[in-house]
Amino acid sequence: MVKQKKTIKSKFSLEGRFVGFIGDFGKQPKRIRVATSDGERNIKLLKKLRGSVVEVLEPGDWVQISGKQKYKRKTGKLKLKAHQFQSMAPVQQKKVSPPQTAAPKPKTKACVMVCQKSSCRKRGGRKVSQSVTEYLRDRGWENQVKLRGTGCMKQCKKGPCVVFMPDKSRYVNVDPKQVPTLMEKHFS
Ligand code: FES
Repeated sequence: MVKQKKTIKSKFSLEGRFVGFIGDFGKQPKRIRVATSDGERNIKLLKKLRGSVVEVLEPGDWVQISGKQKYKRKTGKLKLKAHQFQSMAPVQQKKVSPPQTAAPKPKTKACVMVCQKSSCRKRGGRKVSQSVTEYLRDRGWENQVKLRGTGCMKQCKKGPCVVFMPDKSRYVNVDPKQVPTLMEKHFS
């Protein structure tokens, strides 16, 4: 009788929309979350990729990722490790979109950080990210203020947690409807 392998290793390649980073707040993210046609996936990053993804990815960007995967028969768990990624963000489109209202003064570190860990996501973190993305797009502020996903901020029961940079102002229990008010407060 042929003995079946407990773990099946193979290569993978997928495309999807970048949802956010997963990792400790303040450190380089170890994993990213990507929404694919088969659902959302957590993908571990090779160490050498961790710095570069933070530089280029924003929630909503299309990404193409390839690497190696391990499937454990016993548990049915599939682990993905990215060896290469390519952002397919429409860079040119972003440059030509005209501002619809007066943009905030360029602040080099102006950004909104939304916790992407499961507890905050269950409490509405994803909708908060969407609301921030829509607000930035409607105002034509994409080049002035960045949206970034973060890891756990240790306020899990009070999620969704959001931090406004460079002020480092932290908010908990954020409702998506509050986003316009908070954005005006910090960036106008
Ligand atoms: S899950 Fe968001 S703060 Fe812990």
